[in-house]
Amino acid sequence: MSTTVPPSGLAAPAPAESAETGTGPAATRTTSWGADPYANALRTGRGPLFLRRSDGWLLPLDVERWCSDAGSADLSALHRCEGPVLDIGCGPGRLVAELASLGHRALGIDVSETAVARTRGLGGAALLRSVFDPLPGEGRWGTLLLLDGNIGIGGDPAALLDRAADLLAVGGLLIAETAPVDVDERVRVRLDDGRGGPEASAAPAAREAAGEPFPWARIGTPALLRHAGAGGWRTADQWGAEGRTFVSLRRPVRERSARTSSQSAESAKSTPEISSQLPK
Ligand SMILES: C[S@@+](CC[C@H](N)C(=O)[O-])C[C@H]1O[C@@H](n2cnc3c(N)ncnc32)[C@H](O)[C@@H]1O
Repeated sequence: MSTTVPPSGLAAPAPAESAETGTGPAATRTTSWGADPYANALRTGRGPLFLRRSDGWLLPLDVERWCSDAGSADLSALHRCEGPVLDIGCGPGRLVAELASLGHRALGIDVSETAVARTRGLGGAALLRSVFDPLPGEGRWGTLLLLDGNIGIGGDPAALLDRAADLLAVGGLLIAETAPVDVDERVRVRLDDGRGGPEASAAPAAREAAGEPFPWARIGTPALLRHAGAGGWRTADQWGAEGRTFVSLRRPVRERSARTSSQSAESAKSTPEISSQLPK
């Protein structure tokens, strides 16, 4: 994700989906990334695509890179993965596909149907699911990926770290890409293909296609390490590649939340057909 302009985000409930579609209860499903501009960009493999704040500030999204093969910066993260890998916000699936070719058990999750379809089209395993929904293998993943700005999902990095701790096995690794500047901000944004113009003057149809504004966060390494330290995470590594910056963190040792335990049980009951994707 380019950082020449500001942040990005998302979150809003969506309808429950059936087990047949490989999805589950969606109490906290975010729908905004299911909006037309993102789906269209993934279908063509091209931008322009932005996250737009109501004041017009734009964060360009690197659709072309997401729709290409994994590059050397991606590989610098993937080579650090341990055990079964959950790619949170997998987009069109280049990382899931590359992980599979490296011999990892890997599952992508995403709230965009088009992203999940593209990931499956590359031969990767993917579920239409929010990270805040019940997920297979809670508490057993070896590595979680939050790349391409996905630490911004939900607009609250501390809450996302908390959720990540519930998903990881004891000693598990979270690999997150950070903004390559010292920033810690939360904003509300919409997806924008650049045709809408400034929010106030955008045609109603363009505003509707972009969906509701949703929360997003942008966070640099120093701020992420502060949040992580406060939550008991241990820094495993920090590095940069091709102008992108990454951090890996070890899961804090703590009791799982009651919410997650009951969600896991519910997930196990309601989605038996995806049990083959549970990490071993
Ligand atoms: C900034 S893009 C990253 C793209 C992706 N990493 C790639 O390789 O193409 C954010 C992605 O996260 C997904 N996403 C947003 N909110 C999510 C959530 N709550 N749970 C799972 N995925 C989510 C979006 O649909 C989108 O594909």
